[in-house]
Amino acid sequence: MAKVISEDIGAYYYHFPAVATIVTAQARGRENAMAVAWHTSISFNPPLYGISISPKRFTYQLIVDSKEFGVNFLPFEQAGLVASVGGSKGAEIDKFRQFDIARDKPVKTAVPILKAAYAAYECKLVDDKGYGDHRLLVGEIVAVHLLKEAFAPEETLDLAKVSPTLYLGSERYLTVSRETIKYLDRKVYGKH
Ligand SMILES: Cc1cc2nc3c(=O)[nH]c(=O)nc-3n(C[C@H](O)[C@H](O)[C@H](O)COP(=O)(O)O)c2cc1C
Repeated sequence: MAKVISEDIGAYYYHFPAVATIVTAQARGRENAMAVAWHTSISFNPPLYGISISPKRFTYQLIVDSKEFGVNFLPFEQAGLVASVGGSKGAEIDKFRQFDIARDKPVKTAVPILKAAYAAYECKLVDDKGYGDHRLLVGEIVAVHLLKEAFAPEETLDLAKVSPTLYLGSERYLTVSRETIKYLDRKVYGKH
């Protein structure tokens, strides 16, 4: 198959599967949740996490007002919830009520933490910068909520216990299979 080279960039963000998360926030008595596929770890120490969200999102205003946000990782069985909070607007409905979302109590912030999450971070906003039509919000992780049994002794996800929610794009969700895990030791592979 021949490759096409083009300056028409197109949907570059669909060229690899993303992990679909639910970002949560609250301010002035309003709480909200939205789907976020554009996110990344940034620093070990301090532990920094970045999310890229449009300033049009209701969630963005809540984060700017409270200087806090939550990042929630859901098992594949909850992919429908990702689509629900990603397909509705907090400016129009109370998503927690509408989709009957159960919460865990936060410990270092006031952000809602989702009970269904196998991992969730409470973050304090440290930076908010515009890049093109989105804002890169960087938060310091001040508390993590982990379903301990979902993790193997080496601290990676135990795929026998939990299947992460991945997003391919164009409303298509998938997960991963532990049969495809390969152990490739970088110290061995990087030898020269
Ligand atoms: C799977 C999925 C991933 C998404 N990822 C992002 C994202 O990374 N950044 C963003 O700004 N919006 C993203 N969205 C869109 C928002 O979730 C959507 O606009 C939502 O309605 C915003 O809610 P709010 O206005 O209540 O904050 C995504 C939607 C879906 C379904």
